Amino acid sequence: MAITIIIGAQWGDEGKGKIVDYLSKDVDIVARFQGGNNAGHTVVYEDKELVLHLIPCGILHKDIACVIGSGVVINPKVLIEEIENLQALGVNIENRVFVSEIANIIMPYHTCLDRINEQIRGKGKIGTTGKGIGPAYMDMVARVGIRAIDLLEEEIFVKKLKKNLEEKKFFLKQYNGWGEFDFSKIKEGYLEYGQKLRKYLLNTVVYLDEAIRKQKKILFEGAQGTLLDVCYGTFPYVTSSNTIAGGACTGIGIGPTVINKVVGITKAYTTRVGGGPFPTEFSEEMNSNIRTKGKEFGATTGRPRRCGWLDMVALKYAKQVNGFRNIVVTKLDILSGLKDIKICIGYKYEQEVLKNFPHSLKVLRECEPIYETFPGWQEDISGISDYKDLPFNAKKYLLWIEKMLEVKVDLISIGPKRNQIVRKD
Ligand code: IMP
Repeated sequence: MAITIIIGAQWGDEGKGKIVDYLSKDVDIVARFQGGNNAGHTVVYEDKELVLHLIPCGILHKDIACVIGSGVVINPKVLIEEIENLQALGVNIENRVFVSEIANIIMPYHTCLDRINEQIRGKGKIGTTGKGIGPAYMDMVARVGIRAIDLLEEEIFVKKLKKNLEEKKFFLKQYNGWGEFDFSKIKEGYLEYGQKLRKYLLNTVVYLDEAIRKQKKILFEGAQGTLLDVCYGTFPYVTSSNTIAGGACTGIGIGPTVINKVVGITKAYTTRVGGGPFPTEFSEEMNSNIRTKGKEFGATTGRPRRCGWLDMVALKYAKQVNGFRNIVVTKLDILSGLKDIKICIGYKYEQEVLKNFPHSLKVLRECEPIYETFPGWQEDISGISDYKDLPFNAKKYLLWIEKMLEVKVDLISIGPKRNQIVRKD
């Protein structure tokens, strides 16, 4: 399909990086549309594990252009480091990375505000990645944010920086967070970042419009996942951007009419990092088993991920808000060796059985998952390359998901390496 959106169908960390990397071989452009360096997309490149926080995973394929859209909040230091790291690996970046000149910039006070806001929340903290994502989006919506293009216009940048520092000082002083900031140091540092990034900045709306008119194949790469969407996720335990497919339109500046396909990525089980309700979360022992086996630690923060059974109520909701008809199931290999595998098919709340994902956090916290149990498989499946060679029970599990969700499984990932992927049809 010419224009495809890839999104996470759960709470992030579904393995989108690997799938985007895999699908990139057939496209011309890969574009990010939201989030920032809270994301960590892991890919294995030349036998080395590589985590990309801002540049789309397509960069590892020769000749593919990568776009960072206006909906992404950019920490310029991280972006420059990422560019330099890729160059050190021998990846050619020139004329392949295009950054929206109107993307908002993460400033040092955003990371400090992120930390202090979490302290203030105390027990009710969100468990953010601490990268300044929420405060940067707050400034964008408040219309005071500094945009990439401002880093090239000293006069405008200085004016905006002064105004922002003045405003933030008022708040940060009360929490002893002010001592960290020096106007001149920030000014010099960020103007220098601007010069280093100058050649990558572009009017990406025009660039993508031309690409679409030339019928180029484009992949839009979502970060985080549906249940972390600022509006449709488990608010307030969410990130600050629209992670759902619709976010691609606003975060990149394209119309919905050009999109041909949406693909949801789901793990064969569920994980989440940070606070918030998680109905199908495992018991402590099972959590620890799957976490170790599936290496379930955050790619950005290293935090242990919470693990649980696959939740069809949540996946059905993800299908509703994203409109996907196709999915990719990742980490199926991690379920090998279990006697039984459960899938949540409904939530019991008080005397009611809920088949739709509730918006009330109270209900999500207090509901009891209703499970269907499947016989597991004992074989190691990580070396399989043909769908028909998967164990009978693994195929049964996948077919059941397809039927229940009324979607088509396109691909199944059975390990971290590029070739550990099975096409279903
Ligand atoms: P923030 O995006 O740093 O503000 O964090 C808000 C919530 O989103 C926290 O629960 C984070 O753990 C979660 N989050 C942010 N980015 C990711 C990600 O890439 N994968 C999984 N969870 C994420």
